[in-house]
Amino acid sequence: MTSLLADKLPIGGEQEIAFDGLYYGTTNSGRSSLRWALHSMDLYAKRILVPDFVCQVVIDVLLEFSIQPVFYEVGLDLDFKLPTDAKNCDALYLVKYFGHSSKSFSIALEQSNIPLIIDTVFDAELPTVKTNSHWCAFNSLRKISRIADYSQLASNKPLIPIERTRLETFSRLKYQAKNIKHQFLTKKIESEERYLNLFSDAESILDDSKGVYYPEDNSIFLSNIFHHNLSAETELRRSNLEIAKATLSDVTYIDINPCLPSFLPILLKDRDRVREKLKKNHMYLAIHWPSLSTLGNKLSPNILSIPLDSRYQMSDIQRMCQIIAKEAL
Ligand SMILES: Cc1ncc(COP(=O)(O)O)c(C=O)c1O
Repeated sequence: MTSLLADKLPIGGEQEIAFDGLYYGTTNSGRSSLRWALHSMDLYAKRILVPDFVCQVVIDVLLEFSIQPVFYEVGLDLDFKLPTDAKNCDALYLVKYFGHSSKSFSIALEQSNIPLIIDTVFDAELPTVKTNSHWCAFNSLRKISRIADYSQLASNKPLIPIERTRLETFSRLKYQAKNIKHQFLTKKIESEERYLNLFSDAESILDDSKGVYYPEDNSIFLSNIFHHNLSAETELRRSNLEIAKATLSDVTYIDINPCLPSFLPILLKDRDRVREKLKKNHMYLAIHWPSLSTLGNKLSPNILSIPLDSRYQMSDIQRMCQIIAKEAL
């Protein structure tokens, strides 16, 4: 950096900033951001390449926009190959699975000739995109942190002005449920059933709401705290990821290397039986994701996600993985 004084340039006053060429938005959820992206990219009733391995919510939002999904296959290593007529589609929907940059994902960010919708729901930071094609990327911190309703959206073209409203009840019920769960875990007061019902009521409100919503103020503050603590959180999660991989040496896991680990996906022949065994030991592992209502894929029947966030320490991760390793034999 050259000295401002040496060049007789002004010191003091408002701080300057260079335009980074990007346009930003915030909403309460991945689906709100996706709706805003689809409006901004003018994709109503268009044809979009969509992975066969994705959560149903994404497909439901695409159908709200009368979009015709053209499915492409995702492999067991999370890599994919696009069909030969991909260029005839109006956009490509990409998922950064579990925060992992697969080869094909990275190539698409560099070279895609068609517009990109980049779904990074597992990431705290937005991706670096090199292609000049129109793109929108979004995350959903509610999927990877204790924040109830916060998603960031970025694009290399202006986001269309859109009417955002509030979905205050959703956020309020989520925080109420999270607090009851905290009391249950730390003080053994309150009931598991009560917070589970509240979580379920809240998610039904979100599922039934088709707008684009603001994040609530609580979540904006919690997001600042989350980002402030991100390097310590990342370090712990990376350590948990290493422990999980080491303990699972005989089990097939998908060898992901994300910047911010959230889950380690494993593939089990007899997944549902292992999951039941884990439940008996009070371990409730998620399936990201069951098959779509109209289409199967290679991963859904066998996948199970091991949580890696900082609520869990080495011994928790080892215990989970030891049960899985034993049952998977
Ligand atoms: C890959 C993916 N994209 C988008 C979404 C939508 O995110 P949200 O539930 O925050 O609306 C989800 C959530 O389930 C998801 O798993």
